[in-house]
Amino acid sequence: MEKKRSSFSGKLGFVLAAAGSAVGLGNLWRFPYLAAKYGGGIFLLVYLILAVTFGFTLMIGEVALGRKTGLSAIGAFKKLNSKYTFVGYFAALVPIIIMPYYCVIGGWVFKYFTAFLTGHSQSAAQDGYFEGFISQTGQPILWQSVFILGTAIVVFLGVEKGVEKVSKVLMPLLVILTVGIAIYSVTLPGASAGIIYYLKPDFTHFSITTVVGAMGQLFYSMSLAMGIMITYGSYMKKDVNLEKSVSQIEIFDTGIAFFAGMMIVPAVFVFSGGDASAINAGPGLMFVTLPKVFMSMPFGTIIGILFFILVLFAALTSSISLMETIVSITCDRLHWNRRLATIIVSLFALAVALPSSLGFGAWSGIQPMGMSFLDFFDFISNSVLMPIVAFFTCIFIGYVIKPKTISDEIKLNSPFKREKLFVVMIKYIAPVCLIIILVSSILNALGIFVI
Ligand code: PHE
Repeated sequence: MEKKRSSFSGKLGFVLAAAGSAVGLGNLWRFPYLAAKYGGGIFLLVYLILAVTFGFTLMIGEVALGRKTGLSAIGAFKKLNSKYTFVGYFAALVPIIIMPYYCVIGGWVFKYFTAFLTGHSQSAAQDGYFEGFISQTGQPILWQSVFILGTAIVVFLGVEKGVEKVSKVLMPLLVILTVGIAIYSVTLPGASAGIIYYLKPDFTHFSITTVVGAMGQLFYSMSLAMGIMITYGSYMKKDVNLEKSVSQIEIFDTGIAFFAGMMIVPAVFVFSGGDASAINAGPGLMFVTLPKVFMSMPFGTIIGILFFILVLFAALTSSISLMETIVSITCDRLHWNRRLATIIVSLFALAVALPSSLGFGAWSGIQPMGMSFLDFFDFISNSVLMPIVAFFTCIFIGYVIKPKTISDEIKLNSPFKREKLFVVMIKYIAPVCLIIILVSSILNALGIFVI
């Protein structure tokens, strides 16, 4: 007899857990800085269009694959056509690569939160604080271990008692915090220049890089092409309206990204006296620029505490989904029980996180492909593996099992309103776009600038 698969208790549980996975560092830190870099309003517009077409198609395809088969990535592909099991393996590889370095950044967020909470906000805003912290050996490892432990406890408890419960509490809090800080930020004196830059599309800033940048961000932000949505779909009950749930996850994810921009772009504009390049600080934005911005504001310490706890929640629910996916795959494949799998996966994460962490200090001399370890893992997963997995997922759905298989699954309990869009996207448009992303991001990384 097969063991009964765990499941979410209902629609809300699924939507909040999947949104918990999607909403993470990508929304709160990466989206605002990319929006500023790629021309503000125009990036926002392109992103929104892609989210309702491209993002919708891939997400509904993955969730339906999971629900149809009741299995996580490897099993799902294998069950439908064993020649394509390799796509499942590739998909499974992505969270395995991402999780350890995601926990390193999660550890940094934890550190900043405690620094603000314990009255060290002034020193956290000093020049050199961030570099000084990440280049140490013991401290970052300690914080990432705490972060991994927090993640593991939730996964250990299981789908309904752990993942779903935590998401139901943290996600609404996250919405309140994001909207609240955004309102505070747009009411700062002098914020209007930043708001206009962020909201008003300026078509002279449009270029193909805007589209490629937005598409890469979309994948990462919606946790696509890494087996996560397949796994979460496999926990979804058959009577839940799939299309509606996917739309809600998208609105959640895009909404939080939008408000994150609203809280960060105007505030940085005010701080820098209207200089858009100040927000273009890349990875340093959250840990170097923002603490300074907070300390220049009235009630800065409190805003900083709220902000970092918000980021911590978001990062935690995302890392839970990463660990849950790996645990689910090991349980499906190796028939381990959940608890044993959770312990082993956590130990693995602790070990593999070491190079990403030490790469900024003791091991900074070792640079795979000229990048730090963390950037290297990020590059392999986001720029290489994810477009490959997404491309083959489109081919698999579009030409092997045929879109009808997915449509039938969706129509089990409700009409599929955007079926036409789905079919055209998955067969023709998405595969072509994915090849363009893959080629351009690899060439960019190799230093051959194409577009
Ligand atoms: N979607 C998450 C974010 O926006 C990132 C993430 C990637 C989460 C991969 C889980 C898995 O930050």
